[in-house]
Amino acid sequence: MKTNINNLNQKSIAVDEFFNNALFDKKKGYYSTKNPFGKKGDFVTAPNISDIFSEIIGIWIISTWEKLGKPKKINLVELGPGDGSMAKILVRTFKRFPKFYSSAYFFLYEKSDLLIKIQKKKIKIESNKVFWIKDFKKIKNGPVIFFGNEFFDAIPIKQFQVQKGHYLEKFFRKSKYEIKEFYKKAKNSDEKKLRSFNSLKGLNFIEYPELGFQELDKIIKKILLLSGGILLIDYGYLQSQNLNTLQSIRKHKKNDILKNIYKADITYLVNFNLLSEFFFRNNLKVKKVVTQKFFLEKMGIVERAKILKKNMNKLQVNNLERRLHRLLDRKMMGDLFKVIFAFKSNNDDILGFD
Ligand SMILES: C[S@@+](CC[C@H](N)C(=O)[O-])C[C@H]1O[C@@H](n2cnc3c(N)ncnc32)[C@H](O)[C@@H]1O
Repeated sequence: MKTNINNLNQKSIAVDEFFNNALFDKKKGYYSTKNPFGKKGDFVTAPNISDIFSEIIGIWIISTWEKLGKPKKINLVELGPGDGSMAKILVRTFKRFPKFYSSAYFFLYEKSDLLIKIQKKKIKIESNKVFWIKDFKKIKNGPVIFFGNEFFDAIPIKQFQVQKGHYLEKFFRKSKYEIKEFYKKAKNSDEKKLRSFNSLKGLNFIEYPELGFQELDKIIKKILLLSGGILLIDYGYLQSQNLNTLQSIRKHKKNDILKNIYKADITYLVNFNLLSEFFFRNNLKVKKVVTQKFFLEKMGIVERAKILKKNMNKLQVNNLERRLHRLLDRKMMGDLFKVIFAFKSNNDDILGFD
């Protein structure tokens, strides 16, 4: 991508280029320069809220390894591990299951060099078990389970308008002191792609995760070759809608997307209907998309909390309950976050979805 926010005076920039530049510019980008996680940062994710979330993901991974027939070698790839909070708890959980642990190779797929440093500090473990990767070349044999929390929503999207059957793409341009949006005729190749998805039919405003799908193409190839699957947890919706869902967050508050560039996070709501269609088209089976509440409860989060509470004082119990409430309450993360699993395996009986 040649154009960036710095030379916006001369050029216009598509939404995904803007989003990509703001987050991942090597020198200035938000994720290249900042640790945004936690109370002191800009936002809090589920692994920051409670370790119990990551433990449950760990249990789900082990159960899926069992469903895959307990292969002697299993590759686990965390997509976008952030500050490493989940990976740290996963390693701790995996160690409690020696047979699984000896089979597992754990890869962390991370784009930000700064976050890789932070993750390395947090996850101190034998170097022959954990590997940081920027592509999937090292994953050559054994089934593979990819998983990511709030990974897909951090990958830039394109935005389009459909006017009387004409497809137009949204761009940004600087006019005097302000950045303004405008639309240009969409490329024919993009229009063809958008028209091909049933889940986008009839919409007059479309969000399309071109770069996200490029990431998934690489992942799907590995799954089709080696078997296994991909679990994604993200905020998003089930029925396609005509909404501009791009949002920016800074210091736990909403921020104008065109302000505080490089200093604020940018995300969007994932269209799970479109995501399911994409996986189906690429020959993966897809479990019915469920809410975070459904998934975590099915995987036994409430029972696990009960066990933990037995060794806690009143203050700790209250603290755990408050955090659990945040993860599960329908008005908080419980319903807004969805879980999808796309896979290649003869065994469809994967836990957490029915
Ligand atoms: C919103 S954060 C979520 C972090 C963590 N999973 C959590 O739940 O706390 C998004 C993460 O994905 C990473 N990321 C985004 N796009 C990526 C890409 N194309 N390849 C690898 N990592 C990426 C970011 O650097 C960051 O670590």
